[in-house]
Amino acid sequence: MIKHLKLKNVGPAPSMALEFGKRLNLLTGDNGLGKSFLLDIAWWVVTRKWPNEINPRLTAGKKALPADKGEATIQFSFTGKSKEETYKSQYIPKDQAWTGRAGRPANPGLVLYAMSDGSFAVWDPARNYWRTQDGMDVQDRPAAYVFSPKEVWDGLPGQENTWLCNGLIRDWAGWQKEKGAAFKHLKEVLKVLSPSTGEVLEPGNLTRISLDDVRDMPTIRMHYQQDVAVVHASSGMRRIMALAYFLVWAWEEHKQAANHLQEPKTRQIIFLIDEIESHLHPSWQRTIIPALLSVMKKLTKNVEVQVITATHSPLIMTSIEPLFDENQDAWFDLDLEQNKVVLQHRIYEKHGDVGSWLDSEAFGQKKGWLP
Ligand SMILES: Nc1ncnc2c1ncn2[C@@H]1O[C@H](COP(=O)(O)OP(=O)(O)O)[C@@H](O)[C@H]1O
Ligand SMILES: [Mg+2]
Repeated sequence: MIKHLKLKNVGPAPSMALEFGKRLNLLTGDNGLGKSFLLDIAWWVVTRKWPNEINPRLTAGKKALPADKGEATIQFSFTGKSKEETYKSQYIPKDQAWTGRAGRPANPGLVLYAMSDGSFAVWDPARNYWRTQDGMDVQDRPAAYVFSPKEVWDGLPGQENTWLCNGLIRDWAGWQKEKGAAFKHLKEVLKVLSPSTGEVLEPGNLTRISLDDVRDMPTIRMHYQQDVAVVHASSGMRRIMALAYFLVWAWEEHKQAANHLQEPKTRQIIFLIDEIESHLHPSWQRTIIPALLSVMKKLTKNVEVQVITATHSPLIMTSIEPLFDENQDAWFDLDLEQNKVVLQHRIYEKHGDVGSWLDSEAFGQKKGWLP
């Protein structure tokens, strides 16, 4: 769990300080004020790699650079598997890099990152952490699994004709044919993340969509009684299918890897989600966070889950009202004040309806803002 983050002279604001809640953390603010940037920093703090460094096919997730010539620092602490990591990293211009503590860093548990463009990243303590060989620490495992949007669906290639991940299309079809636990979990996650109880995301029969593509293609059963190939589904459905697949893939693979290593499963998950409302219609926006929290609890029993998510949606903010708990949740808002970006930890007050959220500090629209 990430506890705190303090930035100086890096990113859009001269400084930013965040004390995270241990469960749900929301980031709001206008475009370009640093929400995605903060999520990249959060990912880097616990994994020590920038997403774009691991997979250059990504258009986002680039290494953070100092804002000007002064000293730039990223200070953080997080609780790990066995110890707490607290560190102040400094940017060294001649190395074009941020300093890191020598030796084996703390193990943050499973880290998942859903970026706004459909890219995904996973850091798995069983598959990406350092290992010990002949009494020495060696860091020869993949640094993390970082997928461009296309690779989420078609698979993530490894080195020399190997595959790090089969991708949604092949895995879903394989799981469906094998009728095992993975498919059961996928169906369950899809059901909970569905737009409404009357409109359930349910797998249909496998199909083929082209003479030139031999893959069995998963489908989704639409309520107008058609099985639609997952690649033809709407953007909102594809975003949720990808999220569901990722949760199941990361957790199943983690369990298998931990088993293989004869180690216990992780007790901690950090889930970073950018623009959680992307492509979702209003009523779906109202259910997505509560559904996600509940399905993660179900899928990963006895695991502490910390979510850090950015949103532009007043519907997301109202949807949290019944569950927001200031002892474990937090809301951070980015604003422009006298030409400076300022980050504030705001008190979460209930506003009731969406209109009142729109003209609240979160979105700053004037009353009667429609032209
Ligand atoms: N790699 C980086 N290094 C330094 N600053 C960055 C980097 N990436 C983004 N930023 C800063 O963040 C701003 C973009 O913020 P972003 O997080 O994309 O906004 P949003 O709140 O819309 O998600 C840029 O204008 C820049 O100031
Ligand atoms: Mg953004």
